[in-house]
Amino acid sequence: MRIVVLTGAGISAESGLTTFRDAGGLWEGHDPMQVATPEAYADDPGLVQRFYDARRAALARVEPNAAHHALARLEDALGDDLLLVTQNVDDLHERAGSRRVHHIHGRLQAAWCTGCDERHEWHGTLADEPPCPGCGASDLRPDIVWFGEVPYGMDVVEDALERCDLFVSIGTSGVVYPAAAFVHWAAGETLELNLEPSAGASDFDASRQGPATRLVPAWVDELLG
Ligand code: OAD
Ligand code: ZN
Repeated sequence: MRIVVLTGAGISAESGLTTFRDAGGLWEGHDPMQVATPEAYADDPGLVQRFYDARRAALARVEPNAAHHALARLEDALGDDLLLVTQNVDDLHERAGSRRVHHIHGRLQAAWCTGCDERHEWHGTLADEPPCPGCGASDLRPDIVWFGEVPYGMDVVEDALERCDLFVSIGTSGVVYPAAAFVHWAAGETLELNLEPSAGASDFDASRQGPATRLVPAWVDELLG
């Protein structure tokens, strides 16, 4: 059975990372959504770097939860028949033991040098304009896909969706494209596990509502018997 799983901020919520649209607050007086754009970065790079520096630092204070662990178990059982696609830029899937995580929106723990176009693992800060380990230029930005930029590895995702028997969407509001369209591209059955139905919920065969830490382990247990 070939499965594509898409995760969003909701799977990390119970680990203590706030989701985007549930946050309900401002960050240094800014809407977090408005910081995640190339325009914001061009206008005020320091502000955008501080936002991502804070989110990168927050990873040290959180742990993967039962939902991340359940998906790692699923990968152990299915191997290459599972494609785990995440919109999340955190590292909680990896820390739970998932080895092949497809980060379509990039990762907090990577920096991209716009000078030499190389990417580097990054665990420190960027607001202080550190030099690129490759070329020495102070041109490092978060390796995050912002609004208006092209998500990573979409060819692999499209291919897997066209061949899948089951597509499962977990903890995403379904308002950001192209991920919101995956349910339409999926050849197989579709299932949503979410606290509340996503924007595309009517396109899912079944929507199970509740917290990810309860729904995801239950679904994986059911599937693996
Ligand atoms: P959102 O913040 O838009 O949506 C979070 C979803 O998680 C909502 O549908 C909630 O109902 C659900 N949720 C909250 N707590 C949950 C829990 N404990 N268990 C299960 N579900 C829960 O986050 P995303 O859909 O991931 O992109 O956002 C998509 C993209 O928008 C992000 O990747 C980010 C953002 O802009 C970029 O930064 C490029
Ligand atoms: Zn460089």
